[in-house]
Amino acid sequence: MKTLVIGTGGREHALALALSRDPHVTEVHVAPGNPGIAAIAMLHEVDPLDGSAVAALAVSLGVDLVVVGPEAPLVAGVADDVRAAGIACFGPSREAAQLEGSKAFAKQVMAAAEVPTAMARVCETPEQAAAALDSFGPPYVVKDDALAAGKGVVVTDERQAALDHAAACDRVVIEEFLDGPEVSLFAITDGETVLPLQAAQDFKRALDGDEGPNTGGMGAYTPLDWAPDDLVTEVTRRVLVPTVVEMARRGTPFQGLLYAGLALTSRGVRVIEFNARFGDPETQALLALLRTPLSALLHGAATGTLGEVGLPQWSTDAAVAVVMAAEGYPESPRKGDPIAGVEAADALEGVDVIHAGTAIVDGELVTAGGRVLAVTATGSTLAEARNRAYAGVAEISFAGAHARTDIALAAVDGTMEG
Ligand code: AMP
Ligand code: GLY
Repeated sequence: MKTLVIGTGGREHALALALSRDPHVTEVHVAPGNPGIAAIAMLHEVDPLDGSAVAALAVSLGVDLVVVGPEAPLVAGVADDVRAAGIACFGPSREAAQLEGSKAFAKQVMAAAEVPTAMARVCETPEQAAAALDSFGPPYVVKDDALAAGKGVVVTDERQAALDHAAACDRVVIEEFLDGPEVSLFAITDGETVLPLQAAQDFKRALDGDEGPNTGGMGAYTPLDWAPDDLVTEVTRRVLVPTVVEMARRGTPFQGLLYAGLALTSRGVRVIEFNARFGDPETQALLALLRTPLSALLHGAATGTLGEVGLPQWSTDAAVAVVMAAEGYPESPRKGDPIAGVEAADALEGVDVIHAGTAIVDGELVTAGGRVLAVTATGSTLAEARNRAYAGVAEISFAGAHARTDIALAAVDGTMEG
């Protein structure tokens, strides 16, 4: 099978790496890609948001499957353009991608499907926002209704900061605070069959101890030995399947990767958010352990034949991904800092260095985005995977580099509570 992955980030590097190791895949093309992906796939220039250009590229390469990685092209309808050109495409339609593109839409779907989530109100004026904040009380949760790559959310005890964020957005969703650990559970679906992946955990805050601002994700690990045994079954039954059924009922079937961001609260599982694509950096950790050929899952979803594929199979190892971010991330990441040590880290046992925001300038690898790299490692235990990932981080250096030191630490120490 010939494949084309659209995107430039860590998720796309992880997808391309898994496809390059898949015996059923003969060619891996990526557009636009990044310097890490260039080592394992053929890169092509394209504007990922330009659906006709993406479709034309797919046709000219004669690929059998296009995988649209990030949310922005999905929300822009790029998957629709690829399908209209007669090529199988993994990723939801423009309408179905609204599950991620609009938090208010996602809340409507959850209400119709009776999916457990935080109580919420959509607010368009300062008066509505103030009333909603006071009815839920602190901690306050204020979400920009527009696509914001996980960075449009403010969780704060300060009423004024909550009001200021609401005032800075056109439309916000204000909701009750959910306590308890967060879990990411992904499912691959063709709009009918729903195949859950194993659960992973992401670390959203910039600093150790879950301090600092929200980010796109600073690290991840899988599996979650501390989580309840029935977590995947329960979430599939109560969240993933009802959502896929409701999307089909509306005439906008969801095909692709349904990402449920969950809180395991004292009152049970609640959905924090849906995303319409693979999560980053959870995907780096998950794909390192996936034994089912990735192409079978993605192609099965894209062609409505997922029922023939069977449940994903996993290695019994553990995997940890630690993000190295640029100086100033997430507010204003600095670009252009030279990066050293990537090859040495990549050569360590069990380690893959996944590139996100990197570029080659004058023959030198430099930082080019907020999240620069994700050092991903597997091991026979979570402790071993974690040690290997941090050994990789220790090899890599660039000015202003920042990584959390506590990714997967509580799970290794046995202090996570499920
Ligand atoms: P979202 O973009 O909706 O995933 O929100 C980003 C992050 O904000 C989540 O991963 C949580 O850490 C936090 N968050 C969002 N909604 C809530 C909530 N209702 N209660 C507590 N934390 C939340
Ligand atoms: N890891 C969080 C996200 O991909 O949105």
